[in-house]
Amino acid sequence: MEFMGSMKRSCYCAELDAKDIGKEVTVMGWVAKARNLGSLVFIDLRDKSGIVQLFANDSNAEILEKAASLHQEYVIAASGTVQKRGGAVNPNIPTGEIEINISELKLLSKSEVTPFVVEEDVKAKDELRLKYRYLDLRRHCMQEQIVARHRVTRIARDYYDANGFLEIETPYLTKSTPEGARDYLVPSRVHKGKFYALPQSPQQYKQLLMVAGFDRYMQIVRCFRDEDLRADRQPEFTQLDLEMSFVTEEDVMTVNEGFIKKLMKEHKGMDVKTPFPRITWKEAMDRFGSDKPDTRFGMELKDISDLVKDSEFSVFKNAVSGGGSVRAISTEGHVFSRKEIDALTEFVKTYRAKGMVYISYTEEGVKSSAIKFLSEDLLAKIAERTGAKMGDTLFIVADKDKVVFDALGALRVEVAKRRGILDPNTFNYLWVTEFPLLEYDEEAGRFFAMHHPFTSPMDEDIEYLSSDPGRVRAKAYDIVLNGIELGGGSIRINNTELQTKMFECLGFTKESAEARFGYLLEAFKYGVPPHGGMAYGLDRLCMLLQGLDNIRDVIAFPKVQNASELMTNAPDVVDEEQLEELSISIKNNTEA
Ligand code: AMO
Repeated sequence: MEFMGSMKRSCYCAELDAKDIGKEVTVMGWVAKARNLGSLVFIDLRDKSGIVQLFANDSNAEILEKAASLHQEYVIAASGTVQKRGGAVNPNIPTGEIEINISELKLLSKSEVTPFVVEEDVKAKDELRLKYRYLDLRRHCMQEQIVARHRVTRIARDYYDANGFLEIETPYLTKSTPEGARDYLVPSRVHKGKFYALPQSPQQYKQLLMVAGFDRYMQIVRCFRDEDLRADRQPEFTQLDLEMSFVTEEDVMTVNEGFIKKLMKEHKGMDVKTPFPRITWKEAMDRFGSDKPDTRFGMELKDISDLVKDSEFSVFKNAVSGGGSVRAISTEGHVFSRKEIDALTEFVKTYRAKGMVYISYTEEGVKSSAIKFLSEDLLAKIAERTGAKMGDTLFIVADKDKVVFDALGALRVEVAKRRGILDPNTFNYLWVTEFPLLEYDEEAGRFFAMHHPFTSPMDEDIEYLSSDPGRVRAKAYDIVLNGIELGGGSIRINNTELQTKMFECLGFTKESAEARFGYLLEAFKYGVPPHGGMAYGLDRLCMLLQGLDNIRDVIAFPKVQNASELMTNAPDVVDEEQLEELSISIKNNTEA
């Protein structure tokens, strides 16, 4: 092994091209490929910029021998002259017209045979790539995502700074926050039996920063939520978190539209039109069956309850008489086969729908799983209401509204996916507003805050807080991009009386509210500006901008489905002594 000594890198590999022919250069990096042709050795050298080809031949026996001993992933430094390629030009890489004739070569670090070949078109399974994440990250396509993420955060910092936001850090070792997931807990050594909770978000701290008078806060901040993982969820993820004083919903939305506009221009070279469409939660549910509608395609839900409420078909009739509804979506130009319809029926069942009726309008006539209950007159009315035409299939679900919305909302997207009509280069941003303040949980038999307990009700609905809490709408808004909740926020309650009332609605006693949020209630006694804000899921934002479908791909060291990290093996057992110090003993430690 050698040292770099006096060798100094003059440029990155992929910066070189035909204009550098004749220059003496020094490059450093990893051997991506070595080809030994006996009297001629070619090395593809990789660094963060890309790849350049080096060669050694028998004009310098010592260098040739050294070059011949190199293997994949060895780290080297090489100096030489840039020349026009002797062999065929490679049009696929920027350095494809040139090569470097090596005059000095140093081996800086050897590599064992890697568990998988580091190549763009990687063959290894996900688990192996995650165990050796640092090798996987050597691949250009992986580095690109991390670089893109850096750019997004830089644009965010620049934008919010220019708009008067201060980046202020808030604690990670803190008290439990009510964002609805389970907390990750950290035991305290000093305070035996007590625990910190890692923040699910900096919600209360940022509100306290408003009480402190900072006026506009932002932070790119890690949040921790112990919840089931999905493609767009990680146990630790990053928020672009914001809070503003003396603002309305409109102010928060406007400043954020400015950010997205700048981001889309600088990062994607795209012009997006502002203001973004705004639709109320109720309209989103009625039209799309979802509070995060993907508006890149139609297939909107149509309510046919009134048409079928007196039909012979008990499934339809009972759904309506039981307070639910019957709704339909049209595939708008696609007839599915029976087999596909069966698969889609199974799909909606995962959303608790008991079944699904289809009506296909084909050349051979109308086909339907409920044909014997559907008179011609009714079929005509349904076609009119839904706009169904020849060549369409209608899917109908009858149930409680929540089930109908969940099932058809998800089906709508599934159908679009199966038909391949989701264009990754269309970016449909929109705001969903006027969310319900509270959500009733049948199992728990009580209301929960849909956003969090500090969200303000809409002024005109405050009067229903005691009499009809379910109908109270909130000053809350989500920003949605292509069917994914990108971020959300609200105007907060800044009045102790209203906050106390809200805690009452949520079933907190005076004492339990005091125990959990006493410090906030105390702070609220001393002059609170009207304030509000929001937080983006930064990982989700980067994933969508990069056209990816898993946030794992924009996180350098992500966790897998069961919340473990395959590379470090976290979480792991700890020493008995550490537990002793914390006065912790482990019960039923089956995994260990
Ligand atoms: P909320 O809980 O809606 O709001 O979170 C804001 C955004 O964070 C992202 N997100 C996640 N991303 C990856 N993995 C997760 N497990 C995960 N959970 C949430 C989503 C979501 O829209 N304090 C409030 C914001 C506010 O009111 O200002 C909050 O945390 O993109």
